[in-house]
Amino acid sequence: MQTETCVFDAYGTLFDVDAAARAVAGAPGGEALAACWERVAANWRLKQLSYTWLRGLARAHVDFWTVTRDALDWTLEAEGLADPELRDRLLALYWELPAYPEVPATLEALAAQGCRLAILSNGSPDMLRGAIEAAGLQGAFAAVISVEEVGVFKPDPRVYRLIGAQLDTAPEKVLYASANGWDAACATGFGLRTAWINRTGAPAERLPWRPAHELPDLGKLPGLTGRKGG
Ligand code: LAC
Repeated sequence: MQTETCVFDAYGTLFDVDAAARAVAGAPGGEALAACWERVAANWRLKQLSYTWLRGLARAHVDFWTVTRDALDWTLEAEGLADPELRDRLLALYWELPAYPEVPATLEALAAQGCRLAILSNGSPDMLRGAIEAAGLQGAFAAVISVEEVGVFKPDPRVYRLIGAQLDTAPEKVLYASANGWDAACATGFGLRTAWINRTGAPAERLPWRPAHELPDLGKLPGLTGRKGG
């Protein structure tokens, strides 16, 4: 069946979540991060995701920006780098993360095939607006869906259900792309056709569902839609 709509996860899939720590580490004043920015970026991300899962289980939802700030505070303290100025710089950059290099051409190729494009993300609507604008991707998406619509984070099924509800489409007509292995696996369990964008060559998640496709980046995604030009 032809893909009618390509739905993208945002953070880590379209937007480079390591970019904030990398940029500060490489800029004047970023010396404290120079030797440890990769660990800081990885721990920040992992803590951010852990808080989304814990808050889901504890039924104590807050938006993704709050979780992102809390995760950074934990990470900087653990690293002995708790410094308000550094924190503010990192958070400001997280608001305007760049897209991965292949993103603009991939979105253009999918649009040229007649594929409708959408985002489904943990990000709050204002965060997503900021990232889309910073990456120059305004107008690329027919819909930008935030989990704030249901007040719970991925992989709660209520989140994946938003795709059908908001885009008025059947799950089998959707191709869902996520660089987060757990997200791609759980979306598969929900019934979506999925592409895991395995940017880091990570092992498959030991979860009951395997994504239909695995790609090293988004570049070959248009080849999975079954549409002309793929
Ligand atoms: C998102 C997180 C999971 O954008 O990366 O939903």
